[in-house]
Amino acid sequence: MTVPAGMVPLAMAMVGGGPGSFIGPVHRMAAELDGAMRLRAGVFSRDHARSLEAAAGYGIDPERAYPDVATMLAAEARRPDGIALVAIATPNDTHLPIAAAALAAGVHVISDKPATATLAEALALQNHVAASDALYAVTYTYTGYPLIREARERIVRGELGRIRRIHVEYPQGWLAEPVERGNNKQAGWRTDPARTGVGGCISDIGVHALNLAEYVSGERIEHLLADLAAVVPGRSLDDDATLLLRFAGGARGLVAATQVAAGARNDLRLSIWGERGGLQWSHADSQHLYLRWPDRPDEIVSAGGPWLGPVAAAATRLPAGHPEGFIEAFANIYRDFADAIRGSMPIAETPLCGIEDGVRGLRCVDAALRSSAAGGAWQPVEAIAPRP
Ligand SMILES: NC(=O)c1ccc[n+]([C@@H]2O[C@H](COP(=O)([O-])OP(=O)(O)OC[C@H]3O[C@@H](n4cnc5c(N)ncnc54)[C@H](O)[C@@H]3O)[C@@H](O)[C@H]2O)c1
Repeated sequence: MTVPAGMVPLAMAMVGGGPGSFIGPVHRMAAELDGAMRLRAGVFSRDHARSLEAAAGYGIDPERAYPDVATMLAAEARRPDGIALVAIATPNDTHLPIAAAALAAGVHVISDKPATATLAEALALQNHVAASDALYAVTYTYTGYPLIREARERIVRGELGRIRRIHVEYPQGWLAEPVERGNNKQAGWRTDPARTGVGGCISDIGVHALNLAEYVSGERIEHLLADLAAVVPGRSLDDDATLLLRFAGGARGLVAATQVAAGARNDLRLSIWGERGGLQWSHADSQHLYLRWPDRPDEIVSAGGPWLGPVAAAATRLPAGHPEGFIEAFANIYRDFADAIRGSMPIAETPLCGIEDGVRGLRCVDAALRSSAAGGAWQPVEAIAPRP
């Protein structure tokens, strides 16, 4: 536990998280889990009446449910108990303007992924982060799981030797039918380029898979080849993405992300193979990390035990056998961010993903779009200027 007795929780605002939304309420639960932060203010919806409705549900003073972000930042700056940070849980097209306004006001930003809707926006946001004293982090949720952090530490320690293969599979099925034509709001904005940005599935869940490949292995994707498809008729953005990857250190790999695999839930799986062994983790079995060895029995590392390294141990609240999950993983990201804000750990020494990781996601999306448009040609991830 990192919160000293008697400490006043950091005051947090949220943008998004209105009635019926998905991830905003998770941000609120995660931020408050360890007592380091409290949700005190927000713009929970573009519709002020719905924002007030959400504020009542969150137990927030209606005066602090604001009609827009500019009004909130100005009013909170005048309060002695004003917000220290803002969480962004809105559709992707709004991430840049909200983050830029908060950073300019000296308010720390924790934003959901993708960092922005386009690569050009991500690069602009990188400049805003550089120009501000306030901190920025992006919530790639899976990086908060203790055993993902354990896997990363073991690779840094060289247990697998030189990395050769990295596979990430992320099948979902909730867009297998054109549910955006009904009243599914999440599907509505995700299939609308004006709100979600240049990529569909590749931007929505492909960025999680690509981030995980780099985060855990420590390798950087240098070139990729993509086959993006809009499987459900009438969609203008991809709902299915298959990528081959070449990493700077010589490893090769693949990402297969889809939202049209009928019956699939959120079946994220990661395998990394090195010259001396491999590791495997899946979201459905997130309490176990499987280590595969060529010359001795395989190992199963359970979450919560004294055998974990320090980074995974610090991300664990319960003894082995008591499952922690999505909300606790999210809460680990918030706890790290609280530590960074309070100065108890420099942000660069935390396991957090920052703006560089956000930009990497959009660079990969940009390269995937280029590759797929060229009929599946290999493309560099870094070298090409972003589209406007
Ligand atoms: N990290 C993860 O695992 C994860 C999971 C789901 C979604 N996300 C990301 O979180 C974001 C939100 O996704 P969601 O599924 O919760 O969407 P959602 O449609 O369920 O919720 C979006 C909320 O934002 C509100 N909103 C929209 N525009 C606004 C504005 N300008 N000002 C204030 N409020 C506004 C809406 O009223 C709604 O309450 C997206 O960027 C998405 O990619 C991340």
